[in-house]
Amino acid sequence: MKQSVKLIAGNWKMHGLSADLAQAAALREALEGQDARCRVALCPPATLLDRMNAVLTGGGVELGGQDCHEKPAGAFTGSVSAEMLADAGATLVILGHSERRAAFNESDADVAAKVEAAVAAGLEPIVCVGETLVQREAGEAVAVVSAQVEKSLPDSLAERPFAVAYEPVWAIGTGLTPTLEQIAEVHAAIRTALVRRLGQAATWTPILYGGSVKPENAAEILATAEVGGALVGGASLKAEDFLKIISAA
Ligand code: 13P
Repeated sequence: MKQSVKLIAGNWKMHGLSADLAQAAALREALEGQDARCRVALCPPATLLDRMNAVLTGGGVELGGQDCHEKPAGAFTGSVSAEMLADAGATLVILGHSERRAAFNESDADVAAKVEAAVAAGLEPIVCVGETLVQREAGEAVAVVSAQVEKSLPDSLAERPFAVAYEPVWAIGTGLTPTLEQIAEVHAAIRTALVRRLGQAATWTPILYGGSVKPENAAEILATAEVGGALVGGASLKAEDFLKIISAA
């Protein structure tokens, strides 16, 4: 299994109403007929998945969820299972985003259980890791992120397609980004942790960078060693901005 093609994924978070499907349509249209130099995905809120799937089907843009429950079905009011995401047309799912780790108290073990569920449903997980500002300032970034990789990835991922996203918590939605040296340092540490955890196949696992990726900084970030793509929040909401990031890959 070789996965050296970059993946540029847009995380719409809790943004997106029916009218915003036009952005997905514009993205699809703009990429049609172009040589695909990278993979492109949109991860809208669950309410838009089915309709966005109808917009994207047959084009080059993949569809992903933003979270899933660890169980395939059951009495879990308000939750969405990996099977349901797949049924709505998703092929990817973001798991362990720092906003869920912080606001919903998701532990590494919770994330690993969700990753298991996603793999069982045939989805490709994008597993997020990242340190807080306090942890970075204490010199703990590499240790924190390596431990998250170690504990958030179940054995069942070995030989499966998946991605890791390094998203420093302090860089998300703030306009702040680590230096390219800091990104390279953490991505190298993630690669080491991945191979230690899952073996040589993880040499090809894409490691995305996320946190204030914009058209202005995308090219230099994407050209940094071991950066296998980007997980983009705010700048993925408008096709025009997202396309500029995609063309920087
Ligand atoms: P921003 O690109 O808005 O900083 O968000 C990053 C992110 O959290 C993507 O998952």
